[in-house]
Amino acid sequence: MLAYEIHGGFGLDRLRRVERPDPRPGPGEVLLRMSAASLNYRDLLMVKGRYNPRQPLPLVPLSDGVGEVIEVGAGVSRVQVGDRVATMFAQHWLSGPPTRDKLKLTLGGPLDGVLAEQVVVHADGVSLVPHHLSDVEASTLPCAALTAWTALMDHGKVRPGETVLVQGTGGVSMFALQIASMAGARVIVTSSSHDKLEKARALGAWQTIHYPSTPEWGKTAVELSGGAGVDHVIEVGGAGTLQQSLRAVRPGGHVAIIGILAGSAGEVNLLPVLMQNLRMEGVMVGHREAFEGMCRAIQGHELQPVIDSVFAWTEVRDALEHLGSGQHFGKICLAF
Ligand SMILES: NC(=O)c1ccc[n+]([C@@H]2O[C@H](COP(=O)([O-])OP(=O)(O)OC[C@H]3O[C@@H](n4cnc5c(N)ncnc54)[C@H](OP(=O)(O)O)[C@@H]3O)[C@@H](O)[C@H]2O)c1
Repeated sequence: MLAYEIHGGFGLDRLRRVERPDPRPGPGEVLLRMSAASLNYRDLLMVKGRYNPRQPLPLVPLSDGVGEVIEVGAGVSRVQVGDRVATMFAQHWLSGPPTRDKLKLTLGGPLDGVLAEQVVVHADGVSLVPHHLSDVEASTLPCAALTAWTALMDHGKVRPGETVLVQGTGGVSMFALQIASMAGARVIVTSSSHDKLEKARALGAWQTIHYPSTPEWGKTAVELSGGAGVDHVIEVGGAGTLQQSLRAVRPGGHVAIIGILAGSAGEVNLLPVLMQNLRMEGVMVGHREAFEGMCRAIQGHELQPVIDSVFAWTEVRDALEHLGSGQHFGKICLAF
């Protein structure tokens, strides 16, 4: 079978198409024939060696995929041949609070990922996907959607009428817009692009802010929320945006620390955190039980993931370059 590996060093030039022996499932494992995958920013960092420079190579990249179960190993009863399943990001995190062990084994590094025609994973590490979604659409759920779901619903406990601010219009943020809207919240979206803000409004954004021309967007968010401040911020910028997020949020509000698009380290004035009883909570994707709950909600509301573009899986390099360009709106996917 064909697969892609990061081979002999990091960088987009080191992505290599290789022939690997057809894998077979051992006891407790399932064999998937992959049909779709989606890209996350982490995948680009992994290929470039910026996620974990010590990651042993070769590595099959990408964490998120959908495939059909074509064989099950001894003792597997959770899924059966013919099921359409998604791969879980943290293979051992089935439910409950995180532990080092639960967070350790993630697909697309350190474990081999899904950019292969056939993939073997433990049966616990897959989950059925919503019926109304195509394979490509469902492939967007394991990391981006679950991260937004965990931040808003598990950690944030978003309630109808609350205000959520999401930064940018990438994969996590567009799911956050849709999930927060589904929960009855009103959503403020920031973006570098007026066109993307227009699209966000069409998706249900309540208010929008063009952040390059509004560097004090935290203050603008407070004004838009009627002076109170927003209840939740989906922080995907990281160090470069956190100060404005702390400004945007109401006393007692919640900032979900998710991404580092604008840097992972920097100077931040923590005074607002203590003076206003803010809650900053880190998010690492989420567990399988949360994924299952999210899929019930997505199916019940017939939520359609926002797909920017679909590339053939053999065009993975072009797809990763497109992700790196930041031109996209929502998710970039691969079809096998
Ligand atoms: N902790 C976790 O579990 C977890 C899970 C998934 C992702 N992440 C992280 O979250 C971040 C987003 O991931 P993603 O996959 O959604 O990325 P993505 O789809 O590549 O999103 C990129 C978009 O983010 C926006 N952006 C970039 N810099 C920004 C800034 N300074 N301020 C506001 N928005 C900015 C831009 O939107 P506009 O073009 O509209 O400006 C850009 O198009 C990444 O750092 C990723 O590693 C973390």
